[in-house]
Amino acid sequence: MQRPSGPKGTCETVGVGWIGAGSFSRAKLIPALQKISGVRFVGLANATGISAQRAARNFGFGYCCTDANELLDDPAINAVFIGTRHHLHASLVIGALNRGKHVFVEKPLCVNEAELNQIAEAYARSGRILTVGFNRRYSPFAADCTDLFKGRIGPLSMLYRVNAGRLPSGHWVHHPTQGHGRVIGEICHFVDLMGFLSSSLPVEVQAWPVDHLDANPEDNIHVHIRFADGSRGEVLYLSSASASVSKERIEVFGQGRTAICEDFRTCHFYRGNQHRRERSFFHKKGHREELRAFVAAVKHGVESPVRFESLYASTLATFRIRESLQCGRALPVHVCGPF
Ligand SMILES: NC(=O)c1ccc[n+]([C@@H]2O[C@H](COP(=O)([O-])OP(=O)(O)OC[C@H]3O[C@@H](n4cnc5c(N)ncnc54)[C@H](OP(=O)(O)O)[C@@H]3O)[C@@H](O)[C@H]2O)c1
Repeated sequence: MQRPSGPKGTCETVGVGWIGAGSFSRAKLIPALQKISGVRFVGLANATGISAQRAARNFGFGYCCTDANELLDDPAINAVFIGTRHHLHASLVIGALNRGKHVFVEKPLCVNEAELNQIAEAYARSGRILTVGFNRRYSPFAADCTDLFKGRIGPLSMLYRVNAGRLPSGHWVHHPTQGHGRVIGEICHFVDLMGFLSSSLPVEVQAWPVDHLDANPEDNIHVHIRFADGSRGEVLYLSSASASVSKERIEVFGQGRTAICEDFRTCHFYRGNQHRRERSFFHKKGHREELRAFVAAVKHGVESPVRFESLYASTLATFRIRESLQCGRALPVHVCGPF
């Protein structure tokens, strides 16, 4: 096994190995990465040869394979991007860090606490950069909201309503050994964004199903999150809303200031009696910006764009949310690890 060596170091070109070029990678991530300079598309692995070949040809990768280990052992690759379904994330992240690669993994970082702790150890040993596709913290809304609340003294109150709709029961995200459910797969985004906006870590969560008799109770839930600085967040993750209503609406309040974001397209910022509105034709959810930040960190040999403690806390909080749904109690989120 190739061991990571020394400090991160700088590089002019990032050699990319892509593992799992499925629908999201092909539609969003790889096209966004193609727009960033100084990136070389070295190799791509998918489960099946035909899809690997097609994706490698379409996106200009040098070669393709069906065994991710080929990419992990390739010295021309210094950054691995993981876009597989959730159950494979932890083993691929650990394998890549152990071979001295920098890692970008789509959310969730992993699917249970044992995996999370193994990743924490591998990360601490590796000295490499690890980031998770929590793209919303890179959105223009998140940046403007942070500006609006700069210098605040008191805590924030945050409301995050998601018009999630139903997923068919057979969808892989519901699958107990592939997706591990919508809390782990999707709620992690909202926990992470609220942690970013409050510059604080979650310390306690509680969650309730809207309807105990629902066949897919994770389709329709309320979550309360308390953050270390006293800020509080509510997530309403709903399949009971009208399809005509926006997909995501975020409201943030504190010290006479308010930020409102509708679908990452229309944002309002209020400070006293001043009001600023930002509108865009596209949903600006931060995907391009998160890739830019990762590539820049790899090139310049600097720290991971997001502190590992924060990735760990957002992930652990989603595990606790899931447990709270089942036990009906508020649960603490203790962040302790080798970082
Ligand atoms: N951040 C966001 O906004 C956002 C939005 C949507 C999804 N996502 C995340 O993106 C990830 C992928 O979702 P998706 O909808 O794109 O899934 P998907 O379409 O099922 O794609 C999974 C890909 O992984 C490949 N794969 C499976 N096993 C593999 C293995 N052992 N080695 C290498 N490749 C393997 C599959 O290859 P084959 O094609 O050969 O089967 C497929 O191309 C998930 O983590 C999801 O949560 C993020």
